[in-house]
Amino acid sequence: MKVLVTGGAGYIGSHVVRQLGAAGHDIVVFDNLSTGYRWAVTCGELVVGDLADEAAIADVFARHEFEAVLHFAANIVVPESVADPLKYYSNNTRNTLNLLKAVSEHGVPYMVFSSTAAVYGMPDDTVLTESMPLAPINPYGASKMMSERMIMDLAAASPLNYVILRYFNVAGANPDGLLGQATPEATHLIKVACECVTGKRDGMSVFGTDYETRDGTCIRDYIHVEDLAKAHVMALDYMAGGGESQVLNCGYGRGFTVREVIDVVKRQSGVDFPVEETGRRAGDPAALMADNGKIRQVLGWQPAYDDLDTIVGTALAWEEIWHHRQAGDNA
Ligand code: UFG
Repeated sequence: MKVLVTGGAGYIGSHVVRQLGAAGHDIVVFDNLSTGYRWAVTCGELVVGDLADEAAIADVFARHEFEAVLHFAANIVVPESVADPLKYYSNNTRNTLNLLKAVSEHGVPYMVFSSTAAVYGMPDDTVLTESMPLAPINPYGASKMMSERMIMDLAAASPLNYVILRYFNVAGANPDGLLGQATPEATHLIKVACECVTGKRDGMSVFGTDYETRDGTCIRDYIHVEDLAKAHVMALDYMAGGGESQVLNCGYGRGFTVREVIDVVKRQSGVDFPVEETGRRAGDPAALMADNGKIRQVLGWQPAYDDLDTIVGTALAWEEIWHHRQAGDNA
């Protein structure tokens, strides 16, 4: 398939591009390189452009006849979205609208959208199903919920089919050491802990130890980026085979506490970096885990890396590589 991948130079997008290339797809990446990198685009053509620029979108759609659009490009930091909500409604919601105009105008038949567990908000149940009501508690989640809705409404009014993937906590890296999370000023737990191992950070905080969980810290469903990437490739195959539009959780259906994650990073690395226990971070639900029955059934998706040691091991290996590359040429 001829596919457009927005945000394909970023962390998750670059892993998906690699798998799409291996599966034989013809790829055009559209990325403004705000948090992505040229080197991360290992297959296809890179067009440097911004989804705020409707002329640039029109240009890439005029030059290629896309059969599918995979839309990753977005801002993803929850606390930043609280401080600067319009950035999120602009870069996530409005830019998705810009993209959808071109998708509609050119009659692109398939779309895969990167959504998030943040659309569920602060649910009472800790294991989440796709049919639960959406009640995001921050602008990031709201910006993605609105994007989901626009895609659904366009699909209802046109031949467009979509698969919306709601990601849980994505971590890890390509096991070959070719790709990984290189995001500047990362805030995610596993990435932060790995940066403590390389010495990029002196130490880290545990945000809250008084949650009603087995050790008082928050529980999250960590999914390896390669398993998540595989879901995108399978979603394309599913739609090409005539499958109907779907909303699917992407997680393993089990969780680890913050302390458990940090313990694994310390054990695997052998580095006992300082960890300070501080107060709760605003907007953190105690526990979030995916019910993944639907994606297993609809796509036939099966995890290959459902193991915290593997997730942390690949993240650590990448962090060492990335650390040395930055020290060298910052390429
Ligand atoms: N945490 C720490 N210290 C840190 C970083 C994180 O204790 O230095 C804790 C957080 O408080 C939270 C857990 O580790 O309890 C996981 O936090 P992350 O920032 O890694 O991830 P979140 O669960 O907050 O967010 C992730 C994605 C979001 C998505 C959300 C949905 O990053 O994009 O999952 O569940 F919206």
